[in-house]
Amino acid sequence: MAVDEYPLPVTETLTALQVMRDAPVIPVIVLHDPAHAVPLARALVEGGIRMLEVTLRTPQARDCIEAIAREVPQAVPGAGTLRSAADVQAARLAGARFGVSPGYTASLGRACREQGLPLLPGVATASEVLAAQEDGYTELKFFPAMQAGGLSMLKAWHGPFGDVAFCPTGGITPANAGDFLALPNVVCVGGSWLVPADALAAGDWARITRLAREAVALQRVAR
Ligand code: 3PG
Repeated sequence: MAVDEYPLPVTETLTALQVMRDAPVIPVIVLHDPAHAVPLARALVEGGIRMLEVTLRTPQARDCIEAIAREVPQAVPGAGTLRSAADVQAARLAGARFGVSPGYTASLGRACREQGLPLLPGVATASEVLAAQEDGYTELKFFPAMQAGGLSMLKAWHGPFGDVAFCPTGGITPANAGDFLALPNVVCVGGSWLVPADALAAGDWARITRLAREAVALQRVAR
């Protein structure tokens, strides 16, 4: 998707593939202070990263998603760590435009379809890929990527699951991201390294913009 297509109209529903294609990296964000949300989103957008996965792991996460949705029109806030239908509803109410989950259940998939929320469901086994596919999900988060088999697992899956696009997440770093992005079945990777806790605490937005720019420059094979 070209930069000049943004800001996206707030009513536009994205597909999971659009979310994955927008940049080589989806940042996995953990926010404890709502005051960080807007400057962080602006810093990431400035660096070329617009799809922002704010994990529902802190009591402040929903307020942070809401603030980004309201105040940073160039950003597309998403909700991570979705584990239940209630999480999906909370994410939607806060203004999340995509969801990411660590695993997959049929009820989570159903809730996302009912709420019109594009979902990147987490999978770590072939049976989980089949279950997600059975419910129509063909863009999947491979989680936890390094612990669940890393590059060799994705290479093995390319045979039986050649029609699935993966976003490996968990243990991805600037040092190994390029290897994952060189695989034909990897459209993007997820990672927390773009938003280091110390940079957040210090309000070092320039460092976060730098990290985002470096991430955007990563080469990928699949689009
Ligand atoms: C997570 O859910 O925390 C993600 O997998 C991020 O993992 P990372 O910190 O290894 O990037």
